[in-house]
Amino acid sequence: MHPTCPTCGHAVPDAEPGARCPHHPRRALIPEATLREHPNDPMLGRVLGGRYPVVGVLGQGGTARVYRAIQEPIGREVAIKVIRPHMLRQEATLPGRFRREARTIARLRHPAVVELHDFGEDRGLLYMVLEHVPGRSLGEVLAEEGTLEPRRLVDLACGVLEALDEAHSMGIVHRDLKPDNLMVVAEPWGREQVKVLDFGLAKILDADWDDDCPATRKLVLPGTPRYMAPEIITERHATPRSDLYALGVTLFRSLTGEAPFDGPNIIQMLAAHVHLPIPVMDPALGVPAALEAVIRKAMAKDPTERYADAREMAAALRAAVAEAPKPARTARRAPPVRMLVVEEPTLQSPHEATQIVSIRPHHRWTRILAAASLFVRMVR
Ligand SMILES: Nc1ncnc2c1ncn2[C@@H]1O[C@H](COP(=O)(O)OP(=O)(O)O)[C@@H](O)[C@H]1O
Ligand SMILES: [Mg+2]
Repeated sequence: MHPTCPTCGHAVPDAEPGARCPHHPRRALIPEATLREHPNDPMLGRVLGGRYPVVGVLGQGGTARVYRAIQEPIGREVAIKVIRPHMLRQEATLPGRFRREARTIARLRHPAVVELHDFGEDRGLLYMVLEHVPGRSLGEVLAEEGTLEPRRLVDLACGVLEALDEAHSMGIVHRDLKPDNLMVVAEPWGREQVKVLDFGLAKILDADWDDDCPATRKLVLPGTPRYMAPEIITERHATPRSDLYALGVTLFRSLTGEAPFDGPNIIQMLAAHVHLPIPVMDPALGVPAALEAVIRKAMAKDPTERYADAREMAAALRAAVAEAPKPARTARRAPPVRMLVVEEPTLQSPHEATQIVSIRPHHRWTRILAAASLFVRMVR
């Protein structure tokens, strides 16, 4: 590892990443390998706010990129989240949402919610300084391991539900729960901890719904279509139980390797959430019947038929695996469950972008969905 200046390429073999370049005192040295992997990323080597040298890339989602940085002078590793520049050009409301996300995380103090250390602006660039979570997203875990063993998954899910319980009790609905927004952290003795990320679409209940897109007179469906609860699609109404639905979809996918509702395009995916019965899991997967039943209840089309709250769902998940016999090891890549016919999948990337699906208003949702294929806009 030769920390290198991204401006002049000068390498200082004994320096720590984040140390300043002797020739460019405002630039931080970054590992040579990082520079090779991300040769044109202007954030690398930048020192945000004069005290956060950006030294690596941690990940990216639909709207933001997250970097590894060092907090000076204490030398703590942190994560810095910034809006991706091309997204800023496409979506004027993003800075407002970004500020709101920071305020939401700041209110939530829970071990299973990523912690906000700081928020700042540097030459017009807004940034969040978050606790650095040393792990993989559940999306990455699934991409590598295919499926998760039920008990391991239930432990993680209960962590998510604890975080949701806290958020919901404060009137905050996440609205974008999915594997890419959950970090899995390995702990000593084989334990794992989960951290909920990305409150970028979180909704404070009782605030105006249409705050994401106030001037356009378009209906806005915030979230990721593959995990979106039916009531968000039909009524544009998210409640805490919409998060339980999204977690149900996440659990279904984590146990079977496949999302329950898929389709060649967003419209079919949304229609499937509203209309299609939940697929039955293949018995060969060895998922305990009681666990499948809990997931089916969490994914009920009618929110009133789901669990009343996160606590109730956590208790049901624990009970479902407590009695189950230890399942035989499942294949790394589980066989597909019964699905919609997928002709030309368009959203198959392992990292699913959050999409703001904008649909012009109409009276009946089915006609909206049919007409919307002309108008759907995916913000990437
Ligand atoms: N605090 C963090 N520590 C480590 N990695 C993170 C952290 N926050 C985000 N990431 C990584 O960056 C990715 C994108 O972050 P996210 O907040 O979900 O952005 P977006 O709002 O664009 O979806 C995550 O899926 C994760 O891999
Ligand atoms: Mg995300």
